Amino acid sequence: MKILFLADLHGNMPATRAMEKAITHLAPDTVYFLGDAVGKGPESRATCDWVRTHCDSFIGGNWDYGIGGKEFPADGYYWNQLGEERLQWLNSLPREAELTLGQLRFRLFHGRPVTGLMHVHTDNAELNATLRRGDDVFDGVIFADSHRPFIRTLDHGYILNTGSVGNSLGVPRAHALLLSWDGGNEDPLLFTVLSLPYDNQEAARIAAMDPELPFRDAYIHEITTGVYSR
Ligand SMILES: [Fe+2]
Repeated sequence: MKILFLADLHGNMPATRAMEKAITHLAPDTVYFLGDAVGKGPESRATCDWVRTHCDSFIGGNWDYGIGGKEFPADGYYWNQLGEERLQWLNSLPREAELTLGQLRFRLFHGRPVTGLMHVHTDNAELNATLRRGDDVFDGVIFADSHRPFIRTLDHGYILNTGSVGNSLGVPRAHALLLSWDGGNEDPLLFTVLSLPYDNQEAARIAAMDPELPFRDAYIHEITTGVYSR
């Protein structure tokens, strides 16, 4: 069984097309979307539609709710591009899901707004709390939001990050997380980070041609360097 988790496409279609190629090659049994289909990049409508077509399970991210719920007047560019039906879909996405693989029960969410911003360097003392939700105790958390993939252990569980398809920080490639498992209690569970090159210059050109794109220069800097810029 192969399960792919991807998130943070953020309107970057060249990166999304690279991910689509990898999906065709890897042929996962199911694809989870963990939030932030839209915002930041110039092709939010296309990445929103891509998620709906290529993923099987969906969780919303802070940008999906912010834009879908029309929270910030400065997001008018995205509202116009997406149209009412997509905005309503984004705003209706569930905030959490869970997945049990053998003896391990994973909690799935985007990050914000379920919890505060969790960085790759956030220490265990703060992250441990994410393994509990009321009386529920999980063996692992799978999330996105930080735009950097990682695999770590907490004091009593795993914490796995998908990284970002379209707005990677640190290394400006397209990232996702693949879990593989043959289904037996003694079979190994494989956690794999996908790291894909894509045409960053093409993505920058598409953004440069759109004079209305909010924070256009910051976006171009992020996708060409991997350095957070706003
Ligand atoms: Fe994001």
